[in-house]
Amino acid sequence: MSGYTIAVVGATGAVGTKMIEMLESTSLPIQQVKLLASKRSAGKKLQFNNTELVVEETTAEAFEGVDIALFSAGGSISKQFAPEAVKKGAIVIDNTSAYRMDPEVPLVVPEVNAEAVKNHKGIIANPNCSTIQMMVALQPIREKYGLNRIIVSTYQAVSGAGAAAVDEMKEQAQQMLNNEAYEAAILPSGGDKKHYPISFNVLPQIDLFTEGGYTYEEWKMINETKKIMSDEDIKISATCVRVPVISGHSESIYIEVLDKSASVSGIQDLLRTAPGVSLQDDPTVQLYPTPLAAEGKKETFVGRIRKDIDEETGYHMWVVSDNLLKGAAWNSVQIAETLHELNLVTEK
Ligand code: A2P
Repeated sequence: MSGYTIAVVGATGAVGTKMIEMLESTSLPIQQVKLLASKRSAGKKLQFNNTELVVEETTAEAFEGVDIALFSAGGSISKQFAPEAVKKGAIVIDNTSAYRMDPEVPLVVPEVNAEAVKNHKGIIANPNCSTIQMMVALQPIREKYGLNRIIVSTYQAVSGAGAAAVDEMKEQAQQMLNNEAYEAAILPSGGDKKHYPISFNVLPQIDLFTEGGYTYEEWKMINETKKIMSDEDIKISATCVRVPVISGHSESIYIEVLDKSASVSGIQDLLRTAPGVSLQDDPTVQLYPTPLAAEGKKETFVGRIRKDIDEETGYHMWVVSDNLLKGAAWNSVQIAETLHELNLVTEK
């Protein structure tokens, strides 16, 4: 076998650059990698496995000969070009929210619902970063004890809003430390009227506000969880918050299980061997996950597991993962690996 031709759309972005990194260490047989971005980046050179690759403009023609296309250039680019890539015979793995809730499109976290890739009709969606790490941590608990309710509060890193948002945070921090005037133009949402500084701050808004006083990011967590878990009835609510962290989303998660025989040690035992999970839970030696320590790692880290004070079936936990890796690039490449393992990719 000579290997696949894989395109990365949005190759110059925060997630795209990590996709390239993840492709360098994948078990997938790769013949060629095509790096695509906007016209502005055409001609720019990036490294893949110590080889210099030239970035091309994203056009319909660029997908000629592509077997798998990883998209992370924003929802509108996915809407425009994913169907073109599929027409040219590629399987699209889309990291944007463009197709996630489309009933025709599988929404996949390989540790949870790998088999769903078999139903794809050309496009497979990568869930929202905050949803992915929560699914990885909760699936083993759900399988063993059943899950009735989830209440999650997130502490999300700025890299989730793109490379430009990280640059703005760093600039603000420098200006604030120098007692200089600072500007905020990106967060909490590029599409909203007001902008607030993220440096030395915490913003209880990710994306725009919509129904019921919730933001789109919060609805993504709610709706995507129901779709991935194939459970419309699960009770779930979310509060999504941006914090001045570069990489690594943290989540405080409260769950209510169905099985009264569950226990903290039972949950710890499950998570100790669960796929994609690393248990870091020992308050006696201050062992718990932090975003800085999770940066660059593929696992979802879980700690601070404890029983609710009042609710017999309630548990709290702290879940951290690198939002650019498991939350995006790594999950996308893992989906590609799943497709390969299930013999679902035909080489051109
Ligand atoms: P470019 O660098 O050429 O603008 P981030 O999430 O870090 O903001 O990155 C967004 C990614 O999406 C970048 O790779 C960016 O490329 C890409 N992108 C933005 N606009 C387009 C477009 N019109 N066509 C293709 N890629 C785009």
